[in-house]
Amino acid sequence: MAEPGARILLLLLSTGSWSLISGQVMDTKTIQVPENDPIEIPCAAYTSQGGRVEWKFEKGSSIVLFYYDSKLTDPYKDRAQFTPTGIRFKSVTRTDTGKYICEVLGSNGQLRKSEVDLIVRVPPSQPTAKVPTSVTIGNKAVLTCTETDGSPPPTFQWYRDNVLMPSDPKISQNFKNSSYTIDPKTGVLTFEPVTSFDSGDYYCEAQNGVGPAQKSEAIHLEATEVNVGGIVAAVVVLLIVLGLVAFGIWFAYSRGFFSKTRGSTNKQVIYSQPSNRSDGEFKQTSSFLV
Ligand SMILES: *[C@@H]1O[C@H](CO)[C@@H](O)[C@H](O)[C@H]1NC(C)=O
Repeated sequence: MAEPGARILLLLLSTGSWSLISGQVMDTKTIQVPENDPIEIPCAAYTSQGGRVEWKFEKGSSIVLFYYDSKLTDPYKDRAQFTPTGIRFKSVTRTDTGKYICEVLGSNGQLRKSEVDLIVRVPPSQPTAKVPTSVTIGNKAVLTCTETDGSPPPTFQWYRDNVLMPSDPKISQNFKNSSYTIDPKTGVLTFEPVTSFDSGDYYCEAQNGVGPAQKSEAIHLEATEVNVGGIVAAVVVLLIVLGLVAFGIWFAYSRGFFSKTRGSTNKQVIYSQPSNRSDGEFKQTSSFLV
């Protein structure tokens, strides 16, 4: 025979999602509904004792109070209907995805609150794959796959030459020479390092269990060796340029472009008039000329 207290504790544990938070009773559940379908979002906080009800819609960082003073606000009053136990939508769209919070203020002053996470199901649209067209063997390469419409958010898979890439390349005969990781949640495929076996046509696929999976365009990735030929050609071109510069300097030097002043002096020594000279030089010059 269990104690009455233990029985209440057991009851609380067995209902799982119910918990007491500073006097409020909180209940959270998730409901999925196809886009354009009707849905009733229940208010678990409602009891037969009644009370004043308010509804809030929370999406990201914004919270909108859309039912208060016994009235639905403008954007809701034509498409939804209030009942004490819940809000009925005639149809929902993807923008209705979010958290619906029902608050009931009882006549005894107790505030009860329940929440529903509504996921309006939307099939994925065609994902976009970003694939580098040329990668060097031995380097890291990152391929990404993105899709923005799917709700709930899709998971991603990658294909090379129409063959599904397993999450662990080592288990597959086709991919055992490759070294990569795939994050199915973000759609990121990382090769580290790229090998010569990684060349191929790559596409990704997004699926979320709503409607068919969607494939991206295929993009060719080419794994290339370090370009030795290119490096040799660059060095040869550099040597030719250096040779031309050296030749140019030698040519200019031999034509006297860098020794103009000294060259003029030499010519003066030979051809200058004696009047330009000092006495000592004059004698020397004249004796040279004679
Ligand atoms: C993996 O590498 C081995 C050895 O280089 C080669 O014989 C084999 O064909 C490669 N497998 C694939 C699937 O490319």
